[in-house]
Amino acid sequence: MGEGILYRVSGPIISTKKTSGIVMNEEVRIGEEGLIGEVIGINAEEATIQVYEDTTGIRPGIKVYGTNKPLSVELGPGLLSQTFDGIQRPLTVIKKEQGIFVKRGAKPPPLSREKEWKVDIQIKEGDIIGPNSIIGEVKETTLVKHRILVPPDAMGKVVEIIESSTYKVNDTICILQDEEGEKRELKLFHSWPVRKKRPFIKRLPPEEILFTGQRVIDSIFPIAKGGVAAIPGGFGTGKTVTQHSLAKWADADIIIYIGCGERGNEMAEVLEEFPKLKDPRSGKSIMERTILIANTSNMPVTARESSIYTGITIGEYFRDMGYDVAIMADSTSRWAEALREISGRMEEMPAERGFPAYLGSRLAEFYERGGRMEVAEGRVGSVSIIGAVSPPGGDFSEPVTTHTKHFIRALWALDTELAYSRHYPAISWTESYSEYFEEIIGWWEREGIDMENLRNRVMGILMEESHLQQIAQLVGERALPEGERLTLKVAELIKEGFLQQNALSKVDAYCSPKKQFRMLKVILDFGETARDLLNEGIPLFKIIELPIFSEIKRMGEDIRNDEIDKFDKLEDKLNKEFEELRKEYG
Ligand SMILES: Nc1ncnc2c1ncn2[C@@H]1O[C@H](COP(=O)(O)OP(=O)(O)OP(=O)(O)O)[C@@H](O)[C@H]1O
Ligand SMILES: [Mg+2]
Repeated sequence: MGEGILYRVSGPIISTKKTSGIVMNEEVRIGEEGLIGEVIGINAEEATIQVYEDTTGIRPGIKVYGTNKPLSVELGPGLLSQTFDGIQRPLTVIKKEQGIFVKRGAKPPPLSREKEWKVDIQIKEGDIIGPNSIIGEVKETTLVKHRILVPPDAMGKVVEIIESSTYKVNDTICILQDEEGEKRELKLFHSWPVRKKRPFIKRLPPEEILFTGQRVIDSIFPIAKGGVAAIPGGFGTGKTVTQHSLAKWADADIIIYIGCGERGNEMAEVLEEFPKLKDPRSGKSIMERTILIANTSNMPVTARESSIYTGITIGEYFRDMGYDVAIMADSTSRWAEALREISGRMEEMPAERGFPAYLGSRLAEFYERGGRMEVAEGRVGSVSIIGAVSPPGGDFSEPVTTHTKHFIRALWALDTELAYSRHYPAISWTESYSEYFEEIIGWWEREGIDMENLRNRVMGILMEESHLQQIAQLVGERALPEGERLTLKVAELIKEGFLQQNALSKVDAYCSPKKQFRMLKVILDFGETARDLLNEGIPLFKIIELPIFSEIKRMGEDIRNDEIDKFDKLEDKLNKEFEELRKEYG
C-alpha cells in the first residue's frame, strides 16, 4: 500500500511529502481517524489530495494511506430510494433542523450488505458473456427491475453460476474464466471509478421526446431522451421548482436528483417532499425510481465537486440496463464554484472570474456523458441531463452560463421579469431554444398531433407580439390597428392560457400530450375565428368581452387530463358565442 506524510493543509486540500506507491485518483485515508480523500495531483514526491470531510484538527506529520483503488461507486441492487452524499455515503436523514449527517472518517457501504434480494438468473454454465451482459434480474422496487450486469471490464466463459434464489449483494453469483484461464468472481454489485465514464457500443441519435408534462417545454422547447438541457436563471426565478417538476413528472424510468450545494433547508425539503410524491403512472412513491444525491452548502466543497460524477456514473449504470435515466443537477454553478475554490487552494492560475481554465472542459465532460446509447446485447438506454445554472445577478454572460451553452442543445432561460410578474414557469420564449424539436417530431406525429404546425403558428404570434409591443410602447396600444391588437390578445391567451403553468396545482402541474394539443388548438381557433369576425366589421372589444376569452385562460386549471372531452364543449361554446355575436351585428 502506498503512503505519504502530510505537510500542508489548506481547507479541504492537503499535500503529502515522501509519497510512495500512491497514484492519481486513488482513494486515500488520512490519519488515525481515516478521513476519506482522493488524489487529485501527483508528482515524484508530492501528492495533492482533496478531503471529503472537515479537516479541522488535521496536522502536518500525520500519515496518509493509499487504498489501492480509485475512488469508486458501488453499483448494484439497493441504490433506488436512497439518499447519498457526493461520494456515495448513505445519508441518514435525522431531523429537518439538524440537517444531514455522516460520522467523520466513516464510510458505511453504500449498498446494504445484510439485505437479501431474490435473484432470477438468466444465464447458464458455458455461456460466453462480456461487458454489460445481463446475468439476472432482481425486482428492486415495485417499479424497477434491476438487471445484474457483467462489469464493463470483465468477460469470459461462465464456469460457475448460482441458482435463482435469495442472495446478498456481496455473495458470489457467477465465476467467469477468460481465454488465459484467469478466473473472476462476480457479485450482485460491482464497483466503478467515479470519474471514468462507462463504455458503450455506440451513440444513437435522439428520437423520443422526454415527455415532462410541462407545456412550454414539451410543445415549444422539448428535450429528447438522452438530451442535454440547461436552466439558467437569476436568484429565485424558479430553477428548483422546475427541476422538481421534471423529477416528478418526466417519463424517465430512473430519476437521479443531484442537489448540489444548495441551501441546507432546500435539500431537506427535497428529502421530505420526494418520498410523499406519487409516480403518476403507477401511484407508487416516486422514490421507487429515484436516487437522491444531497450535498448542501455546509458540506465540504470537495463532496460537492464529486457529487456530479457520482450521480452521472450511477445514471450510466442504469442506462446500461437499458433504461431511460434523467439526471437533474441543481445547481451546476455551485459545482463550478467548488471547482474554483479547490483550484484556488491549489494555487492554480485563475482564468475568467477566478474560475480555473479547465472549467469549460469539465462542463463538456459532464454534458457529454448524456446521450442515447446502444449498450450491449442490442439494448438501448439513455441519460438525459438537465443542469440548473445560477448566474450571479442573473447575468447570462458569466463563464458558467456561456460555457454551458456550448454543450447543451436545449436552453430554458428563466426571465427575471417574467418571474417578477409571476409568469411561471418563467421560461423566456425569446431566449430559450431547443435543437431537439425536429428530431422528436415523429413522436408527436405518432400521437396524431401536428405539433410542428401548431408550434410554428404559436411562435409566429409570439414573435409578432414582441415586435408590436415595441411599437405600442412608442405610440400606445390604442394607436395600433384592431388586427394587430387582436394579435396582442391572442398572445395574451398563449401566455396566460398555455405557457403559464402552476407547478403547485393538483390539476395543472402535469399536462398530458392530448391536453397540450387541445389547449393550443382552442387558442388558435379563437384567434382565427376572431380575425374573421374582425374582418366582418365586429369590433375587437366585443370579441374579448366574450366569456370564452377568460375561460380559455383558465382551462389549464379547469380541465383535468382525464376530461379531454370538455375541450369539445369549449370549442362548441367558442363557436356559439361567436355565432351569437355575428347575429347581433348581422
Ligand atoms: N412553475 C411554477 N409554478 C408556481 N410557482 C413557481 C413556479 N416556478 C417558481 N415558482 C415560485 O417561485 C419561487 C422561487 O422558485 P425557486 O426556488 O425554484 O427559484 P430558484 O431559481 O431555484 O431560486 P434560487 O436562486 O434561490 O435557487 C417558488 O417558491 C415559487 O413560489
Ligand atoms: Mg434553487
